[in-house]
Amino acid sequence: MSTRSTPRLRIAIQKSGRLTDNSLDLLARCGLRFSRARDQLVCFGENLPLDILLVRDDDIPGLVQEDACELGIVGQNVIAEKGLALPDGGAAPTEVTALDFGRCRLSIAVPDESVYAGLESIRGRRIATSYPRVLGRWLADRGLAADIVAQAGAVEIAPRLGRADMICDLVSTGATLAANGLREVEVVFESRAAVIRTPVPVAPEKAEWLDRLMQRIEGVQKVDGSKYIMLHAPRAALARITALLPGSEHPTILPLDGTDEKVALHAVCRENVFWETLESLKGAGATSILVLPVEKMLA
Ligand code: PRP
Ligand code: ZN
Repeated sequence: MSTRSTPRLRIAIQKSGRLTDNSLDLLARCGLRFSRARDQLVCFGENLPLDILLVRDDDIPGLVQEDACELGIVGQNVIAEKGLALPDGGAAPTEVTALDFGRCRLSIAVPDESVYAGLESIRGRRIATSYPRVLGRWLADRGLAADIVAQAGAVEIAPRLGRADMICDLVSTGATLAANGLREVEVVFESRAAVIRTPVPVAPEKAEWLDRLMQRIEGVQKVDGSKYIMLHAPRAALARITALLPGSEHPTILPLDGTDEKVALHAVCRENVFWETLESLKGAGATSILVLPVEKMLA
């Protein structure tokens, strides 16, 4: 056993919330094995020099910025809000890649019974939100003066309490708004989960693992939207069939035993392949069409 242990990387993710399961799943698909007990704040990676810190999502940009963690997975909504809080010249964590989960929007919503006649209905009103900076910038960009009532949570009850006329909060399914008698009127910011990286330079031994992990994350992302397609095509129809394949660059063409008129075509499609596409392929002369999932991909 080596006496010099590999320095360990840390990635901060949301402890319990909308992003938690997807974040853990992404790390598992990057090859990380870990066990997680209830209320645990750190999960030690068993097979890679990477540990997971489970924290409040709002704390993630700060932890990554201060280099307490090299990486974080957090919503772009939180990144934007915390980034605006930095003093001028302060280095924000850099967003390295946007992820395919955690989609939501930061929206303005008004009580169901209130009249909304466009942006002018916002001017001079009180808006409760946990995103005072993102909202403040959006209002300023539109030349609207309004009263921002900053509130850490349970923003949707502010109108009923008489604290605000409207709210600006995250909407995912819309269930929370509906349950509170509110309706969405303006989208302020569209968001999804993203990986952020510390602005502080990382030691070379750590940097190597950091780059490997980023490559694996990108690989998982690519695979999620990809399919492997195999079919038989008449040579004469090859150009037409290739043009129908969604997001595929260089298909492989293979000879088929016992015929010169037909060939086999294999291709990675960088987009999902829908029934409609298969029907068009068949219409163009393709036969024996197979669509397979892609498990791993490394560019
Ligand atoms: C957001 C937001 C709403 C809810 C909306 O909270 O504050 O409560 O999600 O989702 P819905 O449209 O699907 O009902 P989130 O889970 O992001 O937690 P946080 O804001 O407390 O971090
Ligand atoms: Zn939060």
